[in-house]
Amino acid sequence: QQGPAFDSNAMTLTRFVLQEQRKFKNATGDLSQLLNCIQTAIKATASAVRKAGIAKLHGIAGDVNVQGEEVKKLDVLSNELFINMLKSSYTTCLMVSEENENVIEVETERQGKYIVCFDPLDGSSNIDCLVSIGSIFAIYRKVSEGAPTVQDALQPGNQLVSAGYALYGSATAIVLGLGSGVNGFTYDPAIGEFILTDPNMRVPEKGKIYSINEGYAADWEEGVFNYIAAKKDPAKGKPYGARYVGSMVADVHRTIKYGGIFIYPATKSAPNGKLRLLYECNPMAFLIVLAGGLASNGKINILDIVPQKIHERSPIVLGSKSDVEEALSYISK
Ligand code: AHG
Ligand code: MN
Ligand code: MN
Ligand code: MN
Repeated sequence: QQGPAFDSNAMTLTRFVLQEQRKFKNATGDLSQLLNCIQTAIKATASAVRKAGIAKLHGIAGDVNVQGEEVKKLDVLSNELFINMLKSSYTTCLMVSEENENVIEVETERQGKYIVCFDPLDGSSNIDCLVSIGSIFAIYRKVSEGAPTVQDALQPGNQLVSAGYALYGSATAIVLGLGSGVNGFTYDPAIGEFILTDPNMRVPEKGKIYSINEGYAADWEEGVFNYIAAKKDPAKGKPYGARYVGSMVADVHRTIKYGGIFIYPATKSAPNGKLRLLYECNPMAFLIVLAGGLASNGKINILDIVPQKIHERSPIVLGSKSDVEEALSYISK
């Protein structure tokens, strides 16, 4: 049976968020307002990404961030968009951005009860060659009394209210973890709205793909090395395919859609791995777990880690439940 060519009753992201809000009779609408402002930052970032080569937005900005990385022009622009849209939402009091060394405190007059940690532009090394990039966000409620402090941003992932990401891929998509599920929305440029295309996303129980930067194999711990060797060994089952985009958003999105495993491990030279807990590992772990998968640092669930510093890093293994369990049987040996 063929559906109508034009949907006159589309479930937009804005409508979806409002519908979720209406399930709680005491809801103030602040979270909806916050998510709408994030959506605006994402639309503007997507627009900048789509015309970056023409608008001279490719290349470096000239600074090095607190992570020691060379900052790209699009890192700076998307960071400003997120900060400005979040501040003007009147719903946040504190923000943590990959690109800012310290927490960003919102002026008292514009403060609200939420804390947002974000990676405004994920996959910076892929910008100039037009490979998929993304944005990631994580939302907490402020639980302490008084003025916001850095401590308010150091909550474990199991306290997250909501998290999500935008993928600027062959299409633009937003995946949102809210309430009891993960839902995917695809941007329709004709009407400027994100439309629900992937309701109730579930990570397949087992996949056929492994995703890790294999160039660093000499620096891996033995468990990781043995697990990846097993995934390529026909004597141990049908070998897995290898996929590694190098943008966490793209690699995680594929893992949610197709199943399999994504690993950014601890290495001998980087014992905490590379990816940052507050705005990369936690939001992605939240989504993966909500969609039925697993996310671990090799020892404990990512969401149970109590952060000590806003830019701290963590090794991460995430994806299909059965694949992650198998990997952990090697890694925790
Ligand atoms: P960012 O561009 O936000 O700094 O993040 C880069 C991250 C992440 O997107 C990706 O998974 C990882 O870097 C890739 O690192 P390697 O190049 O070391 O594999
Ligand atoms: Mn970076
Ligand atoms: Mn990133
Ligand atoms: Mn980034």
